[in-house]
Amino acid sequence: MTDILKDKIIGLGVTGSIACYKAIDLASKLTQSGAGIDVILTRGAREFVTALAFSAITHRSVSEDMFDPRSELSIDHVAIAERADLIVVAPATAHTIAKMANGLADDALTATVLATGAPILVAPAMDAHMFGNPATQENVRTLKRRGVTIVGPASGRLASGLVGKGRMVETAELMGWIRMILGQGGDLVGRKVVVSAGGTQEAIDPVRVVTNNSSGKMGYAIAEAARDRGGEAVVVAAPNALPDPVGVRVVNVNTALDMQKAVTDEIEDADVVIMAAAVSDWRPVTTADQKIKKGESTEWNLEFTKNPDIIAGLPSDKLVKVGFAAETEDLIANAQTKLVSKGLDLIAANDVTATDAGFATDTNRVMLFDREGGIEVMPLMSKYDVGHRILDRVKPMFKDGLKQDIAVGEDAAGGRD
Ligand code: PMT
Repeated sequence: MTDILKDKIIGLGVTGSIACYKAIDLASKLTQSGAGIDVILTRGAREFVTALAFSAITHRSVSEDMFDPRSELSIDHVAIAERADLIVVAPATAHTIAKMANGLADDALTATVLATGAPILVAPAMDAHMFGNPATQENVRTLKRRGVTIVGPASGRLASGLVGKGRMVETAELMGWIRMILGQGGDLVGRKVVVSAGGTQEAIDPVRVVTNNSSGKMGYAIAEAARDRGGEAVVVAAPNALPDPVGVRVVNVNTALDMQKAVTDEIEDADVVIMAAAVSDWRPVTTADQKIKKGESTEWNLEFTKNPDIIAGLPSDKLVKVGFAAETEDLIANAQTKLVSKGLDLIAANDVTATDAGFATDTNRVMLFDREGGIEVMPLMSKYDVGHRILDRVKPMFKDGLKQDIAVGEDAAGGRD
């Protein structure tokens, strides 16, 4: 399974706002992910950005005036409406939102919105007072009632100088929403995927912890991949600096014991658990109530006790158990030992001494080992793609026959594999 955006057609409506520059970034990120972007600029947008900026990025023609004989829309005014998998209006001004809410179609964008059967996502951008105006609020409610997804606006400093709610949300957040919407109805619909992420922290005293270098990126990427296939994705997350992914429920924990409790709660109705977290094997025997003073001593010995092995203790009758092996030597032998000793269905081994893989990178290079002795060696790829590859392997392993039958039936009816 590849990125859900690959070969999708997205109609990107851009309206007249200073946030137009963010739409260029969005068009760029969507194009890099393999989507075809049909940009429609309103008259107002053309005051802020040019068609050339978008066509240079998307390598496709940009629609402006519906009545321009050079425009595709002058020949077939609903062409984009019909071929789009999703229409995104970003930034969306109060004026365009009002037109959409009232079913007007006096330009290429609103005609497209009115004619499409594709899902619609709107990212408002305007002055805070305009957004707060009852007229705009009513229009937003109307669009929501009709199934339009409204994302934002975010709070912050606005072009007017006012600080308030009116900023268009950032590209990363919009990408999450777009992927999630396109992934609805995917091959993990009805499946709950629990992923652990990050490095647990074991407190020594109120200011010191024992932890490791896990950034949480691997676990979050797996959860996003599950979300983009229509699955219910939950991350049990040790402390990290990542924003909560769109459409993924995040359960925050600190210690290995916290993580054990949260994972145990979440797997009750889950189909698969994927432990990408770097769990502390040991915790200090005691945690001091006050900051420990360094005193005169030149040495400090801490006493540790063993943490429970979370994944080894989880039931495996109904749950697919996937672990990771973070190794600095003997990758294959160590991973195979952990696969058996922890009762796993699959283990992803990664060499954490690599500079482009393992901890804190956006990419990873893993080998997958299963219980039947199967070995899959994967090249360097994004952690998001690693997530998809793991989920591809998990899919035939689901232990609930009934749910699996439904999933297979969906595939037969034109699933996305
Ligand atoms: O978060 P990133 O910066 O993106 O980095 C990703 C990663 C390197 C942390 C990730 O790819 C990874 O390898 N995660 C597993 C880290 C680890 O703890 O490996 P391990 O070999 O020590 O443990 C084996 C498995 O048992 C793991 O699935 C681990 O989550 C689990 N475990 C370990 C100890 C414990 N007490 N309970 C557990 O469940």
